[in-house]
Amino acid sequence: MRMGPYALMNEGEISLLSGRRILLGVTGSIAAFKAADLASKLTQAGAEVDCILTASAERFVTGLTFQSLTGRRAYVEQDLWADEGHILHVGLAQTAALLVIAPATADTIAKLVHGRANTLLTLTALAATCPVIVAPAMDAGMFEHPATQANLEVLRGRGVTIVGPVEGRMASGLIGWGRMSEPTEIVGTIRLVLGRGGPLTGRKVVVTAGGTQEPLDPVRFLANRSSGKQGFALAQAALDRGAEVTLISAPSHLVTPTGAVRRDVATAKEMSEVVLQAVQGADVLVMAAAVADFRPRAVSEHKLKRAGGVPEMPLEPTEDILGEVAKRRPPVVVGFAAESEDLIRNATDKLKHKQLDLIVANDISAKDAGFAANTNRVTLLKAGGDREELPLMAKSKVAEVVMERIEQLLPDMIN
Ligand code: CTP
Repeated sequence: MRMGPYALMNEGEISLLSGRRILLGVTGSIAAFKAADLASKLTQAGAEVDCILTASAERFVTGLTFQSLTGRRAYVEQDLWADEGHILHVGLAQTAALLVIAPATADTIAKLVHGRANTLLTLTALAATCPVIVAPAMDAGMFEHPATQANLEVLRGRGVTIVGPVEGRMASGLIGWGRMSEPTEIVGTIRLVLGRGGPLTGRKVVVTAGGTQEPLDPVRFLANRSSGKQGFALAQAALDRGAEVTLISAPSHLVTPTGAVRRDVATAKEMSEVVLQAVQGADVLVMAAAVADFRPRAVSEHKLKRAGGVPEMPLEPTEDILGEVAKRRPPVVVGFAAESEDLIRNATDKLKHKQLDLIVANDISAKDAGFAANTNRVTLLKAGGDREELPLMAKSKVAEVVMERIEQLLPDMIN
């Protein structure tokens, strides 16, 4: 099916950010142009983004840039001296869910430390009671200077989250630590901060993702079509709810959700070892990975040559990870069933055999669901016999529903 132009309009929406008011402070650095991308990403996620530009930020970008991207008025230094100036900073600060200053120059950081209130942004920061994130951007020498380091330490001590900077080439041509973190990383940090205190706070969630690879020789392996997208989305959904997340991933180029501890594995055997270790003390295991059921019994030490003829390659079963986990299982165990026929019957069998609390069943014969797609159509089956058919949804939305069901299954915490 060809998607209409509006079909996936809200695909970038993030429930945690939707309808939340976020203050984005932009200060005078060449990285200000990246703040435009950040404003756009937050707006697409459904946030109401109010931007405040300092006078020096305006030398790099304009209020109009941000107004055009957010669809909301952007505030500039001159607004501080306009009619409503005396109450503007309080109004902006009061109902914000979060203040993020990106890029944050050394000067603005110093002002924050001392509670200076001589710009609309720092005045607003002083009036704000919401969580604050600062994304420094400056030349490497300035970042490493003891004054800046000491200032950041003070901010950290006050509970401010510092994201970045990262290492790379700076506008001056120098290479070092001082580049502002990428907008995706800043959005990830915003999610992490807003997710604190969420329904999975204090819970340890282990998620596996992607398709394992079973080597035949030094260059070839047996693999499957799993992209890892659904598993990564589940890890992100757990982080959004405040969980401590370990993401055990088969080879994948997907970006690790900010805050997840990622463990990279290749084979079913490696995944099995890492999962069995990670589930100790965990509250939840979600096995979204497509684990190979068979592997070559012997791996050729050298590359198999064409001249050697068609090789005989007997297979042997891999470790049944869920089978092993069942012996000392965490309170909630969730499995996946990717089926090309008899979806419900096969998934129900797996739910029972693998002693799962919940199984996410998907029909991989559909084009718009399953492996590489960004969307999925799944049926949730619970151990008690409940069945819930979900419509076609973004994988991020499927992940949210699965996490909500997991929340309901978790026994109450004993504090
Ligand atoms: N799984 C596992 N260990 C394996 C294979 C699969 O833990 N060696 C997990 C998967 O991560 C998934 C669930 O078991 O959560 C079902 O995987 P699937 O491959 O559909 O199940 P199988 O038991 O291998 O059944 P099938 O005969 O359909 O391949």
